[in-house]
Amino acid sequence: MSASRIRRIHARQILDSRSRPTVEAEITLAGGQTARASVPSGASKGKAEAVELRDGGEAWNGLGVSRAVSNVTGEIARLLDGHDVLDQAGLDEKLRDADGTPNLARLGANATLAVSLAAVRAAATVSGLPLYRRIAELAGTTPTLPLPMVNILSGGLHAGRGMDVQDFLMIPVGARSYSEALAWICRVRSAAAELCAEQGLTTLLADEGGLSPGFARSEQALDLMVAAFERAGLAAGEQVAIALDVAASSLQDNSGQYRFDRLGQTYNAKEMIELQRQWVQAYPIVSIEDGLGEDDWDHWPAMTQALDSRQLVGDDLFATQPSRINRAIEEGIANAVLIKVNQNGLFSGALAAIDTARRARYATVISARSGETEDAFLADFAVGVAGGQIKIGSVRSSERLAKYNQLLRLEEEGLAWSGASMIAPL
Ligand code: PGA
Ligand code: ZN
Repeated sequence: MSASRIRRIHARQILDSRSRPTVEAEITLAGGQTARASVPSGASKGKAEAVELRDGGEAWNGLGVSRAVSNVTGEIARLLDGHDVLDQAGLDEKLRDADGTPNLARLGANATLAVSLAAVRAAATVSGLPLYRRIAELAGTTPTLPLPMVNILSGGLHAGRGMDVQDFLMIPVGARSYSEALAWICRVRSAAAELCAEQGLTTLLADEGGLSPGFARSEQALDLMVAAFERAGLAAGEQVAIALDVAASSLQDNSGQYRFDRLGQTYNAKEMIELQRQWVQAYPIVSIEDGLGEDDWDHWPAMTQALDSRQLVGDDLFATQPSRINRAIEEGIANAVLIKVNQNGLFSGALAAIDTARRARYATVISARSGETEDAFLADFAVGVAGGQIKIGSVRSSERLAKYNQLLRLEEEGLAWSGASMIAPL
């Protein structure tokens, strides 16, 4: 049996950064090498995402993953026994076919993704390639170092709804290298923390490591972002800019209106667009994610026209599903796609989403989730697929730093730096 064939698949329940259960899978090859991968999990989930299998019941608040783990060690292990990990597409296809549902609900996207990612890593190991090189081989791309988009202030579902808008992020648009970008990010985050302390604001630490000063008005958060740039000695707009993740789906009520509870205001879609147009005029904002809800297809074209000089990213809107990205391309909606591998549930599916975006000249932002593990796969993935931009969360805790630090290692390989050229509109 050739060295790259699967001899054994093992899995276990481990914990993510919010101490919730998640799946880790381990593949052992005939040649003796073992590779491991674990999967992240979100809080502001899109309805169109692949389905995470959770146990329900009392233990772990219903969030246990023992059924997903059994699916890996039982059905999936038998299905893939002897499969060559160098055939990634075939492996992912087998998983999709065996699952038999459109959203991987039967086996669980957490089960399929853990195995799918472990297979990519096993193939890298057996081929003697760094992980990002194996990924580049599969994606047919020339690896590049991505520009980070980083949470500084957070609210929404990431911080007990302490602010209406989910995330206020920075992009070091003028940085000449990844390590310079990272240094600027740390400076801005410290400056923001200092400013909050000086203003006597108690800051909750959000799930992705951002600060949550709990402002009722979004403009207060935007002002603080600009003040933090200044305090860090960086020129707003030229060196550093703002990105927003409105996560508008989580603001919508049953009638589809957008409720800003902290502010005490409700907006319709037209008013949402106008509000964001005003923010873009008043602040150095270069990117807005999920500025409208995931099902608000009717108003997304107007949003896109009103703000087409900015990057408009779909997260919940696309849920890393090629079919939804294709629909948006046809209808002239957004110009960038957030890529979260676990929204898709298979490595090859995430690659297909990137490919769909790229063919239509939509930018891509390779993204972590609010629940992450110490697995740094995402860093190699963003580099390998030449994703252009990466969204990991703040520079605060080790599940995030594992990725930032892996990018520092990859920087030593002398790869090209994406810089601001990969921000939409392309
Ligand atoms: P999630 O959110 O990982 O909690 O779903 C991240 C985001 O909305 O970008
Ligand atoms: Zn988002």
